[in-house]
Amino acid sequence: MTKPNAVESMLKEACLISKANWAVRAVYENTGWHVLETHHLSKSRAVALQAFLADKINAAWLGGALSGGRSRSRTCTLEKNCHKVYLFPAFGGGEWLFIVGVADDLPRQAQQVWRLASMLACETTDSEGGQTRELRQAVSELEETQQELRARIAAQREAEARLVQAAKLAAVGEMAAGIAHELNNPLTSVVGFTELSLDALPLESDLRHDLELVLREANRARSVIRRLLDFARQREVLRTRADINEIVDDVVALTKHLLLTSGVELRLKLSENLPWVFIDRNQIKQVLINLINNALYAMPQGGALVVETCLQTRHGASFLALAVRDSGIGISPEDLERIFEPFFTTRGDQGGTGLGLSVTYGIVTEHGGTIEVESRMNSGSAFTVLFPMESPA
Ligand SMILES: Nc1ncnc2c1ncn2[C@@H]1O[C@H](COP(=O)(O)OP(=O)(O)O)[C@@H](O)[C@H]1O
Ligand SMILES: [Mg+2]
Repeated sequence: MTKPNAVESMLKEACLISKANWAVRAVYENTGWHVLETHHLSKSRAVALQAFLADKINAAWLGGALSGGRSRSRTCTLEKNCHKVYLFPAFGGGEWLFIVGVADDLPRQAQQVWRLASMLACETTDSEGGQTRELRQAVSELEETQQELRARIAAQREAEARLVQAAKLAAVGEMAAGIAHELNNPLTSVVGFTELSLDALPLESDLRHDLELVLREANRARSVIRRLLDFARQREVLRTRADINEIVDDVVALTKHLLLTSGVELRLKLSENLPWVFIDRNQIKQVLINLINNALYAMPQGGALVVETCLQTRHGASFLALAVRDSGIGISPEDLERIFEPFFTTRGDQGGTGLGLSVTYGIVTEHGGTIEVESRMNSGSAFTVLFPMESPA
């Protein structure tokens, strides 16, 4: 048997003093009346009481005692030897009342005992309520701390992932530089000798077509290698103060014909009076060209391309943002995790090398910046390059 709680002890004492047959504390909750603590409630009494509480008229009578805040009684035949039921609402109002079953009328003093008991029970239940509130508060504080912790862990993971990415890039870069140098020389020979052979070949020769194909493919391979070298070379970086909008204008002028022929509408949203940034102009042009190229590839049926420059804040710090948004095919969540990896491409069949974004990533991080990507399948992608505002030492 469990230890009786304070209210149960109270019910017992009050029953003894007032000579009541049984007593319960009942509470009204949205669906109806429920019994909490009981004293001397035999099984048969409990069944009878349950039926009593379920009756609509009785329930209304109990409700009246609650809202009136005063005790009341009624003759009733809940069981043999129980001719009357008394109700004592919680002292000062509340959601519960004592229901007391007696054989005969309760004398006034006995009724006073029950009122006193209801007063004491209020204090007990109130203090329990207070403890519950404190507990709830503690729990919600704990939950907040947990959320904060989770956010920190996520930030930590992100930082780790970035480090891994940077390390990967460095390793691939080194390897790529070696391979690119090795390949560059033989390819130069291939291109050179093919050109010589073509020059020497009669115009109507059957071989001409094949040799032209060799030349084209060799040149394509060379351009891939050149990009690899760009990516890997520890080139001297030339940073100067620059106006980011000027860079956008230059690149747009370069890509204008491409935009026109691909049915893409360009919208420039260049904020005025932006502060200067300390950058390598050529590298940042390369970044923008890569992003625009990718955007164009993502919109084979045409669409809208937005290039925007503006100031943005992240975690309280100001950044100069260069954003390229397209209304293209979007990037699947699985691909999104890999797009910055060197050689990751979904466009191998269209001459994709998978180097554009890894080069872009390398350049931007060298500038102390970051890239954010948002993308939705079939609705478009947004790449935002963020440059820190202070010029690096
Ligand atoms: N704007 C974009 N819309 C859709 N997919 C993109 C976009 N930009 C990049 N991607 C995806 O990222 C991959 C890697 O891009 P990138 O490194 O530039 O290599 P490449 O363009 O040679 O494939 C692309 O193959 C493509 O799947
Ligand atoms: Mg690309």
